[in-house]
Amino acid sequence: MKRLLLIGIGAGDPDHLTFQAAKAIAATDVFLLVDKGEAKHDLSQLRHDLIAAHARDPYRIVEARDPERDRTAPAYTAAVENWRSRRAQIYKSFITDELADGQTGALLVWGDPALYDSTLAALDEVEAEFEHEVIPGISSVSALTARHRVPLTQVGRPVHITTGRRLAAEGTTADDVLVMLDAACAFTEAADDFHIYWGAYLGTPDEILISGPVTEVADQIRAARTEARTRKGWIMDTYLLRRTPPNAES
Ligand SMILES: C[S@@+](CC[C@H](N)C(=O)[O-])C[C@H]1O[C@@H](n2cnc3c(N)ncnc32)[C@H](O)[C@@H]1O
Repeated sequence: MKRLLLIGIGAGDPDHLTFQAAKAIAATDVFLLVDKGEAKHDLSQLRHDLIAAHARDPYRIVEARDPERDRTAPAYTAAVENWRSRRAQIYKSFITDELADGQTGALLVWGDPALYDSTLAALDEVEAEFEHEVIPGISSVSALTARHRVPLTQVGRPVHITTGRRLAAEGTTADDVLVMLDAACAFTEAADDFHIYWGAYLGTPDEILISGPVTEVADQIRAARTEARTRKGWIMDTYLLRRTPPNAES
């Protein structure tokens, strides 16, 4: 049987890698690295560095180019599903053509594979004989709350994890809202009584942290975001919106 490991590598800091993930890298015969293009060179460099630091000879690296996703399509979910199916083809070729029976292949997944990541869903579409295992990783959510030194959950209360797109469409639907994948600063629509804990490039030398009442720091975040995105060519940011104090009746 062929074995595939989905290894969560953390959100940008090489020291996020867990001992379990380091052992999984050491046990891998062939790595598949999917390149997201020039602008996101730092993201692929981290993967190369982790392999160089933890893999054991003999091993091989196979590289593939990420299929383009139609970012102009109005139907977001359909565009993602289409992209995911093309990703599934890459995984299928990797398993079929690059892995021999008894060998272990690995995909190095950013953050934690369970959080806004399509790898598991794409593997469900792969028609090939293999078994797979997931190694959890430190997510950008963990990195964000640790760097701001705040808990994700307040005593006995829920947290709503969502995307910037949904926050823009639905507004703040809870007292604690964790937002990812926001290309348009949807937090500016949050009500006056929300505090924001914002972080970009968490765990990397470019990390930026800003926190405060949304009404006071929204412009500062927007300016920092625009400047950093222009300078680096890409940005990844995450934030927690927390109503202070939480609604008494909810
Ligand atoms: C496709 S999702 C992947 C999330 C990843 N699986 C995780 O566990 O963090 C990408 C989003 O994660 C967030 N993200 C990932 N890494 C980050 C980092 N180092 N700093 C800030 N946000 C990050 C951003 O919201 C980004 O848009």
